[in-house]
Amino acid sequence: MNYEEAKLRFQKFIDDNFDMNDKKVSHKVIHTYAVVDMSEYIAKDLNLDKENVELAKIIALLHDIGRFEQAKEFDNFKDYETLDHASLGVKILFDSNLIREFISDDKYDEIIKLAISNHNKYQLNMENMNDQEILHSKLIRDADKTDSFRVKSVDDVYTMANVTKEEIEGSSISDNIYNDFMSKRTIVSKERKTAVDIWISYIAFIFDYNFTSGLKYIKEKDYINKLVNRFDYKNVDTKVKMDSIRNFAINCIDERISMDDRITGFIISL
Ligand SMILES: [Fe+2]
Repeated sequence: MNYEEAKLRFQKFIDDNFDMNDKKVSHKVIHTYAVVDMSEYIAKDLNLDKENVELAKIIALLHDIGRFEQAKEFDNFKDYETLDHASLGVKILFDSNLIREFISDDKYDEIIKLAISNHNKYQLNMENMNDQEILHSKLIRDADKTDSFRVKSVDDVYTMANVTKEEIEGSSISDNIYNDFMSKRTIVSKERKTAVDIWISYIAFIFDYNFTSGLKYIKEKDYINKLVNRFDYKNVDTKVKMDSIRNFAINCIDERISMDDRITGFIISL
């Protein structure tokens, strides 16, 4: 298993089949490599051995392979209107054995399949999974989410959220969305009613972390402030509530990190 070789093969797969001048394609390639870096960051933070660090990077490299075909065929990334890009990725890799060009050993196939097919689901279904399958399924979910904070802090708002900056700035927050957030719940897409609800649902990803590592990264990069500060909220109630959301989110992250540090400290002191 060799990540650098797999990366060369991945770049060839993109160059041979897709157009890097298409922004949708180039953004997903950038995202892919960023998720590889995140996976490495998390895997090392978890003190995984060399083999599992390498496997985490290869899973990250391949996790969105279905996105490119989805962009080519449908020109958008909406799974609910097109198809499930995670299942498509598994099909592309395993139906014609393309996977062997990225990793010669087949002993990781089931882990890779499960990690990719579960990476975009609302909840991770761990039934019948062994420890290593659970570990990698959790790890790619955290890594992917963490890079989405980078994307949300820099990319064009309309391309990501399908609503304009003005719509977000002028809209009010739905009560159910605000209550979900303040109860530390992730937000179900179809329950969002207003433009700013959509933005809040992105911040609520912080409530679905398996490990603290990604949250440490969000704190280091100040992503909560960056996401809240992207807009000049015109509605007074929205402005006040967005400030509460910001403070609550930052506190939740700090709490979780310090709790994790205490547990780690406790284990080390045993
Ligand atoms: Fe992704």
